[in-house]
Amino acid sequence: MLELWNQIDEAAAYIRSQWSGTPRVGLILGTGLGGLAEQIVQEACIDYDKVPHFPRSTVESHAGRLVCGTLRGVPIVAMEGRFHYYEGYSLKQVTFPVRVMRALGAEMLLVTNAAGGINPQLDLADVVVMEDHINLMPDSPLRGVNDDRLGPRWPDLCEPYSRELIELSRSTALELGLHVAKGVYVCVPGPNLETRAEYRMLKLLGADVVGMSSVPEAIVAIHAGMKVLGYSIVTDLCLPDHLEPVEVPKILANAAKGGEKLAKLIPAVLERLPRSTNS
Ligand code: HPA
Repeated sequence: MLELWNQIDEAAAYIRSQWSGTPRVGLILGTGLGGLAEQIVQEACIDYDKVPHFPRSTVESHAGRLVCGTLRGVPIVAMEGRFHYYEGYSLKQVTFPVRVMRALGAEMLLVTNAAGGINPQLDLADVVVMEDHINLMPDSPLRGVNDDRLGPRWPDLCEPYSRELIELSRSTALELGLHVAKGVYVCVPGPNLETRAEYRMLKLLGADVVGMSSVPEAIVAIHAGMKVLGYSIVTDLCLPDHLEPVEVPKILANAAKGGEKLAKLIPAVLERLPRSTNS
């Protein structure tokens, strides 16, 4: 417990030694979001392997660095590449960067991810704003002794994703002429994709999209008192009666296509953020 606190402190101190800014927003860039990182007015770029206690990314399509700077004038720290449970990390490791973002001053977490579309109304490359989630990970990042300095023992999840930020996303998308859906994200451990029977089950449970990330990060952000906003990009259609084998190049192509929409939407949302998301 003491150890986690100290590790967060050391990681934040290192980042502060490289960047004098105070982030308002922590951004986790999922697959296909490279274009967004390029829009950040960079003040520092820090490889994960330089940051004390940061795990290392093992997924080739993820770069593995922190981009610090401003996006449309909003101070931001962005993770280019995230850590997944299926890579073998514990959920404490997966969510460690969120703790560090909070320690640096971020009051809001913006998570993005590639996800399978369960709701038959969804199309490839659609953007879905996360309005709720179902956690099917076999563990919680908060399991174990609670450090009250980091957050409460039993954080409330009655509104995990900020309604205000969801509405802001919808109104901004409308202004930009972008189609954005709203839905429930179910988080599975992976790395395998699901069977037809599992997709049927996930639909019955009330999920609209399925993926292997974001929920642990969101839980930790909420524990730490941050507002959370999440966007999924639909990279494959999970229709049990018309299921086709997924091809990774196709998933990446759809992620890039949806990523172009998010590269327009996210800067515009940040520009329109209310003065303080915590007020
Ligand atoms: N299932 C789980 N995770 C995913 C999927 C999927 O179909 N597509 C992208 N990430």
